[in-house]
Amino acid sequence: MPMAPLTRVRTGIPGLDNIMDGGLIENTITLVSGPAGSGKSLFAMQYLYNGAKGFNEPGIFITLEEGSESVKATMNAHGMDVEQLISTGKLFLIDLGEPEADGRGSTKVNGFRSITDLLQNLIKLSKAKRIVIDSVSAVGAFYVSREEFRRSLINFVRFLKSNKITAVLITESTHDSTTRFEVEEYVADSFILLGLKEVEGKLSRSLVVRKMRHTWHDTSMHPFTITTRGIEIIK
Ligand SMILES: Nc1ncnc2c1ncn2[C@@H]1O[C@H](COP(=O)(O)OP(=O)(O)OP(=O)(O)O)[C@@H](O)[C@H]1O
Ligand SMILES: [Mg+2]
Repeated sequence: MPMAPLTRVRTGIPGLDNIMDGGLIENTITLVSGPAGSGKSLFAMQYLYNGAKGFNEPGIFITLEEGSESVKATMNAHGMDVEQLISTGKLFLIDLGEPEADGRGSTKVNGFRSITDLLQNLIKLSKAKRIVIDSVSAVGAFYVSREEFRRSLINFVRFLKSNKITAVLITESTHDSTTRFEVEEYVADSFILLGLKEVEGKLSRSLVVRKMRHTWHDTSMHPFTITTRGIEIIK
């Protein structure tokens, strides 16, 4: 029996969908990693913005590190009218990093379980197709072992897929490893690594699709820029 063609979810980031044979694959999980300042959050914001604006697909952005005001400021600085999307129910911006009012420094989240509980209702309410978690490495801080983090991340990924979500999960690369906990890229279907390297006294940005299950993808390192228009792949 011939396989049904894969449905693509376009990121709308200039130059990116072409190198992934048309975009992300619907109902899969993409991990985006890179060092500090490499453009991970901006990537995720453009993914949700373009989905909401260009394809009428509501999105949910869960932030654990940057506060929502900072996320809004970044989006506005790159030409994304975030308030309009929020007020029309196209974008749900949830800050789970905010400390609770108990004065003990605890937060609204203590692992993937609390995010699942929140999303269970929110997905129904919002009819979201695209979800971003910025970042899963921040959620990892709540686990005592790498094995426990991996198990919970696998369950979380299954939960997202059972809800027909196409997700972008963010983690960090370190000096020695492409991901913070060295398990994230195995659990995800696709893996995009952003680079930031000094070349001739200047920081130069690059993007490579390291992994993408079920499909062809380009494997070259692609230089990209960040401007007031956001991320654009150069070639
Ligand atoms: N208008 C602009 N023009 C050029 N570069 C910009 C502009 N605005 C932001 N940047 C670059 O984008 C970077 C921030 O990108 P972003 O916040 O997405 O990175 P990140 O990978 O999420 O970082 P972190 O690990 O700290 O969360 C800034 O450090 C800056 O280099
Ligand atoms: Mg970030």
